[in-house]
Amino acid sequence: MKYKSQQIAYWFFGLSMLLLTLQIVYGFIMGFAHMGFDTLHEVIPFNTARAVHTNLLVVWLLSGFMGAAYYIIPEEAEYELVNVKLAYIQLISLALVGVVAIIGYHFNYWEGRKFLEIPRPLDWLVVINVLTFLGLILMTLYKGKKRTTTSLVLTMGLVFAALLYLPGMIWFDNQTTDSFFRWWVVHLWVEGVWELIMGGILAYLLIKITGVDREVIEKWLYIIVGLTFISGILGTGHHYYYIGTPRYWLIIGGIFSAMEPLAFLGMALFAIAMYRKGEKKHPNKIALNWTLGTAIVSFVGAGLLGLAHTLPGVNLYTHGTLVTAMHGHLAFWGAYGMIVFAFISYAMPNLTGRKLFDTTNGQFAFWLSNIGMLGMTVAFGVAGVAQVYMERIMGMEFGIVQKEIQVHFFVLVCCATMFATGVILYIYEFIKYGKPNIEALEA
Ligand code: HEM
Ligand code: HEM
Ligand SMILES: [Fe+2]
Repeated sequence: MKYKSQQIAYWFFGLSMLLLTLQIVYGFIMGFAHMGFDTLHEVIPFNTARAVHTNLLVVWLLSGFMGAAYYIIPEEAEYELVNVKLAYIQLISLALVGVVAIIGYHFNYWEGRKFLEIPRPLDWLVVINVLTFLGLILMTLYKGKKRTTTSLVLTMGLVFAALLYLPGMIWFDNQTTDSFFRWWVVHLWVEGVWELIMGGILAYLLIKITGVDREVIEKWLYIIVGLTFISGILGTGHHYYYIGTPRYWLIIGGIFSAMEPLAFLGMALFAIAMYRKGEKKHPNKIALNWTLGTAIVSFVGAGLLGLAHTLPGVNLYTHGTLVTAMHGHLAFWGAYGMIVFAFISYAMPNLTGRKLFDTTNGQFAFWLSNIGMLGMTVAFGVAGVAQVYMERIMGMEFGIVQKEIQVHFFVLVCCATMFATGVILYIYEFIKYGKPNIEALEA
């Protein structure tokens, strides 16, 4: 690392890994419940487990993005973070709000809106937290010597993500209107501004790892940002097909969302092209694996599996089934889980001065987690298609169908065990690196 203040990133990564571990625990609770072993039902009913699982996901990813931004911005701007103490306060308050929200869910303190379950009073604390974070990043950029395209795209993604949180906080008495604006948060995050965050981090990693000229890499970044906006904004329409909005959304949503995979294809081609063009001398092969991996798996999980159910004629049948969960898992993992893993793999040797990359554990972590997640995706997919046929086409009752597909969750839990083993190995390596230290500062 080049700047002392970059060390703060480590603590955000630590929080991220902790919350991921908890997320996986709740994933298993649901996996077993789907198999018919819902023994924890009295204490943690399925809907609570689900909300905790998905909210933990969002918070560990945000914590990872924030850590990455605290690492990248000082280096790109060539300036120490303006106020490190405030960044630590922001970290602790982020953890506190997250924990209070998660505990609250167990006592019915929540809103029943998928992904946006956090109650409004806590929303305001999130707003203050994110404003503090953005203030620190923007001030550092403002005072810094340089404003690179990479740092601006990353910052733009973070600022827009914060702004887009607000429509989800407005109160509506009408369910269709509420749902309409809920998608401004959920869809425009993952299929819009988070892609900019991913693109920014990906560009940074490719510059550092492949050694290809910044000018070349940043040119690609413009194309990706363009493709994301052209397709993603009106692509929101793929959530408006059957929720009570006008019929024109069937056409608009269908056409524009079908173009969304292009942005992910762009990212995959970008990463592969830069890898082939680069010198391939960078020693941190694990970081390279994760970087290429995120670009490719996100194209499959978000691009291809998104496309699979995005047309109105298909979505009519698959909406809200396990087909959605199939896509949700590989998309979130490939695009945002893996980019966080890539960044941590790249940053840890620089933060600690210990060159523990290229270990057997690190390789196993990569392959086990990815093969495990791919297996989970297949299990969800098979269960989902079976569900669609029985429930939506044959008209069988929901509960009876859920019993019929229990067997697929045995496969799911086996694959999830493989996935979790990979993640545990990754976290074991993370812990082995130890804490960041001043000796790691590059002269
Ligand atoms: C990294 C990017 C993406 C992530 C993380 C992601 C994740 C998700 C998640 C979690 C849901 C469920 C949301 C909810 O019901 O509240 C969902 C729904 C959906 N996604 Fe994606 N997605 C991504 C990209 C895409 C793309 C590119 C497409 C289309 C090409 C797509 C098509 C869909 C569709 C059609 C639904 C609605 C499913 C339903 O009606 O139940 N997604 N996505
Ligand atoms: C041990 C690992 C995991 C297991 C066993 C697991 C299992 C599950 C189950 C059973 C559901 C509920 C599906 C339903 O509504 O019936 C779920 C939902 C979800 N999980 Fe996981 N999960 C795991 C890890 C992950 C990871 C690592 C991610 C993201 C990177 C993730 C993202 C999601 C998302 C986005 C949803 C909501 C999907 C939707 O809206 O349909 N899960 N998970
Ligand atoms: Fe969407």
